[in-house]
Amino acid sequence: MKKIVVLTGAGVSAESGLKTFRDHDGLWHEHRVEDVATPEAWERNMDLVLEFYNERRKNLQEAKPNAAHIALARLEEKYDVQIVTQNVDDLHERGGSSKVLHLHGELKKVRSSVDPSLVYELQGWELKKGDLCEKGSQLRPHIVWFGEPVPLIVEAASLCEQADILIIIGSSLQVYPAAGLIHYVFAGAPKYYIDPRAAAVPFIPNLEIIRKTAGEGVPELVNRLLAWC
Ligand code: OAD
Repeated sequence: MKKIVVLTGAGVSAESGLKTFRDHDGLWHEHRVEDVATPEAWERNMDLVLEFYNERRKNLQEAKPNAAHIALARLEEKYDVQIVTQNVDDLHERGGSSKVLHLHGELKKVRSSVDPSLVYELQGWELKKGDLCEKGSQLRPHIVWFGEPVPLIVEAASLCEQADILIIIGSSLQVYPAAGLIHYVFAGAPKYYIDPRAAAVPFIPNLEIIRKTAGEGVPELVNRLLAWC
């Protein structure tokens, strides 16, 4: 089976009602990254950080996978599909994809603030001050904040090196190291980038840019790829 790596960003979940970050109505226009998504913010104002991610979890409870998530699961009929997502929602899993790597963490998980190996499923949407891990330290969102290492990047790069086909969906490709993953994919591999406002990506051979929404562009591309084999 040919291997497809699908790199997704916030745009794949936009039609499920979850906000992107850098669009004009995006989260980083309502909140300052420095206030809610850095280790310094956590030290300075834990309440604000908790509130920001509690709100994201509440929104996620109301969201459902859209046509793009569901179409990607259909690709598994004929391909070995690995999703590498920058998203912290669980819509790929709920859409039926079986292999999903979350580069930037997972909203429904929390972890110890002293021992990163202690990761727990959060019941419900609310993480509160005073919720403790088994070592007695405050639980924090299981999210990779700005300024923190991205532990799964090495695994993601290795998956990209093995890809026969790459599909990028709904990402501004502004945030590294995730945005650099495209450079690990073999030059001869077909590559597709589905995003209504996709910027040009210089020096990447065999790249087709599809300026459509995920809900429209992904099912079309999946039908094309399924018809090939
Ligand atoms: P961005 O908000 O930077 O980019 C979202 C992309 O989605 C843009 O290129 C939009 O054009 C596109 N988009 C919007 N609606 C779409 C739709 N219906 N279908 C397809 N595409 C659509 O989000 P990311 O690139 O995911 O990290 O951002 C990367 C990281 O930056 C995030 O994981 C997050 C953020 O800060 C952390 O919080 C650590």
